[in-house]
Amino acid sequence: MRVGVVGFGQWGPNHVRNFRMVDDCDVVRVCDTSPARLGLARKQFRDLDTTSDPTAITLAPDIDAVVVATPVQSHFALVRQALEAGKDVLCEKPLASTVAECRTLCELAAAKRRVLMVGHVFLYNPGVQHLKIDLDRGELGRVYYMDATRTNLGPVRRDVGAIYDLASHDISIFNFLLGAQPAEVSATGGFFLQEQIEDIGFLTLTYPKGVVCHVHTSWLNPRKVRHLTIVGDHKMAVWDDMDNLEPIRYYDKGVIADHYSSFGEFQMILRDGAITSPKVKLFEPLMHQDQEFAGCVRSRRTPAASGEFGLAIVQVLEAAHESLKNQGRAARVVAS
Ligand SMILES: NC(=O)c1ccc[n+]([C@@H]2O[C@H](COP(=O)([O-])OP(=O)(O)OC[C@H]3O[C@@H](n4cnc5c(N)ncnc54)[C@H](O)[C@@H]3O)[C@@H](O)[C@H]2O)c1
Repeated sequence: MRVGVVGFGQWGPNHVRNFRMVDDCDVVRVCDTSPARLGLARKQFRDLDTTSDPTAITLAPDIDAVVVATPVQSHFALVRQALEAGKDVLCEKPLASTVAECRTLCELAAAKRRVLMVGHVFLYNPGVQHLKIDLDRGELGRVYYMDATRTNLGPVRRDVGAIYDLASHDISIFNFLLGAQPAEVSATGGFFLQEQIEDIGFLTLTYPKGVVCHVHTSWLNPRKVRHLTIVGDHKMAVWDDMDNLEPIRYYDKGVIADHYSSFGEFQMILRDGAITSPKVKLFEPLMHQDQEFAGCVRSRRTPAASGEFGLAIVQVLEAAHESLKNQGRAARVVAS
């Protein structure tokens, strides 16, 4: 599989490094509109062909698959061009700026019978995959709510705000773990460093079966935190993506409502049991994601992080922005 990577900024080099290690894959060419970034690409990967013209990848006959790792506003045009030229495409998250653009790309990929995958890398994170298996097995019982924190100082983006950039990860995790799309989202935030680009976001999402999910996201925070708490009626879980030793802890804790007297009164009995940490075999999520893309291209499978999965995330992001404009008034997430 001959791969071309468009965008060699912060993230693109990671794709080049990983695809060079994927079986039967070769990174043939890298494109960036910045001469400085191309100079760096040649220094880092001496045998790599470089270009400042994206069509030398999206339309090139010697390229089978295209990775798009440029800022969000450029995704639609680049992905469309590559799909129209018959390439399989892995596009970084979010798939595009609007739901309408995402829909066009999904329809085009289907019409051309091409693989369209979105870089929702947390679907390939060992901790998230472990939680998914245990949730599907019913280990936590009925899920009441999930609460995520994703904060750090920087990197501050100039093209999209913290909700599109960072909360997109947590929404992808919620959707994946619950196997569902929220019906409603309410979002508040704060604009401190730039006009119309939020630095912080607080999102509350309402999922089917009454599950409530919340995320606090920020690039203007002193601490790097990547936390997810899941509260079920049987057990509770905390996943800390920064903890390499014990990333997941299960708390055998809960509350049982019990009959208190014969007059129909209840008492809440607290159950406070063991805390256990399962063995989670760590691996680089991006490597697994890129391997999965190559596997899907070879076998013509649809990846978990498909174009449709990416479209669903942008539906939530669009609704979140509508809510943000309306001071947190809940906005409906329009399903495709
Ligand atoms: N999955 C993750 O964890 C993760 C992490 C970081 C970034 N990303 C995503 O990767 C994408 C890129 O992010 P980044 O942090 O690398 O951004 P960046 O700004 O550091 O780099 C983008 C690069 O693309 C180049 N570029 C812009 N327009 C171009 C065009 N039309 N053709 C060719 N090159 C062009 C720029 O010169 C720049 O070097 C974004 O979609 C972002 O959301 C994902």
